[in-house]
Amino acid sequence: MAQWTHIPIMAEEIADLLLINPQGIYVDGTLGLGGHTRYFLTRLGEQAQIFGFDKDEEALQMAQQNVNDTRLIPFHASYSQAPELLAQQGIEKVDGVLLDLGLSSYQLDNPQRGFSIMSNGPLDMRFDLKNPISAATIVNTWKLEDLIRILTDYGEERRAEDIALAIMRARKEKPLTTTKELANVVESVLPRRGKTHPATQTFQALRIACNRELETVEQGLACLPCLLKQGGRAAILTFHSLEDRLVKNYFKKLAQEGIFRLINKHALVPSYEEVRKNRRARSAKLRVIERI
Ligand SMILES: C[S@@+](CC[C@H](N)C(=O)[O-])C[C@H]1O[C@@H](n2cnc3c(N)ncnc32)[C@H](O)[C@@H]1O
Repeated sequence: MAQWTHIPIMAEEIADLLLINPQGIYVDGTLGLGGHTRYFLTRLGEQAQIFGFDKDEEALQMAQQNVNDTRLIPFHASYSQAPELLAQQGIEKVDGVLLDLGLSSYQLDNPQRGFSIMSNGPLDMRFDLKNPISAATIVNTWKLEDLIRILTDYGEERRAEDIALAIMRARKEKPLTTTKELANVVESVLPRRGKTHPATQTFQALRIACNRELETVEQGLACLPCLLKQGGRAAILTFHSLEDRLVKNYFKKLAQEGIFRLINKHALVPSYEEVRKNRRARSAKLRVIERI
C-alpha cells in the first residue's frame, strides 16, 4: 500500500493547550494518518501513551507506519466507543482527548474513496469500509423526502428539492455510481458560479449522512465528562458550521453546569501563515475545554 501523510492542523496550538501532563494518557479519537499523534509524541515523555482510534482501517495501518512508536496504541473503532474500549485496558480516565473532524489527505486525495468532487471515483464516502451504507446506496435508494432532508439539514443546500429531483430523474435512467456522475447531475440544475463546485454542499450532506457523523459527534461529546480526569482537557477541530455549532453548544452547557471550564471563549483559528502553507486548514475551528 502506498504511504500517505497528512499535515496536522494547528498541531502546535493544540499540543500547547492539550498536553498538560508530559507522562499522561491521551486519546487521539481521529488518528487519521497519525499527523497529530506523531507530533504530540515528540513533546511527551517515555511513559506517555496515546490511544488512537479510527474507523478507517487503511488509515490506521498507515498511521502505525508513520508514527512508528510503541507509545501509540491503535484501535480500529469509533471514538464514541473509547470509554468501553479503554475500560477493557484497565483505563478509566485520561488526561486529554483530541477529535479532528475533517477528512484525511488520504481520503480526500484518493479517488477510490469517493470523497472528492475534483477526481472521478466510485460514489463511496464511507470512513469504515464495513459500513453497509455508501453514498451510492443513499443516492440510488433513498426516498425523495429523505434526500431533500439530508441536503437541507447536512448540506445547508438552498436548492435541495431541485437537486433531489434531478437525482431521482437520473437514477431512473441508470444508477449513479461515480462522483463525476453525481457532480454532473448537480451541475445540471446548479450552474457553476465562482471557484466552489456547485456540488460541494451535496457531497458534504452525503458524507455526513453515510457516516452518521453528527450523531457520532454527539455521542463522542457525551463521553467527555466520564472520560476526562480532573484537569484533563478536550480539543476539538471542526471544519464546518454544523459540527462547530454542536461543539460550541455542548461545551457551553458543560461550562454552565460547572463541571468544565472553557479554555477559549471563542473558537481559535489557524494563523495566516498556516493557511498559506496548507489550504486545507482554512476553515478549521478549534475549541478546548477543561474538566474542573
Ligand atoms: C482529519 S482526519 C485526522 C487526521 C489526523 N489528525 C492526522 O493528523 O493525521 C479524520 C479522521 O477521522 C476518522 N474518523 C471519522 N469519524 C470517526 C469516528 N467516529 N471514529 C474514529 N475515527 C473517525 C476518519 O476516518 C479520518 O481518518
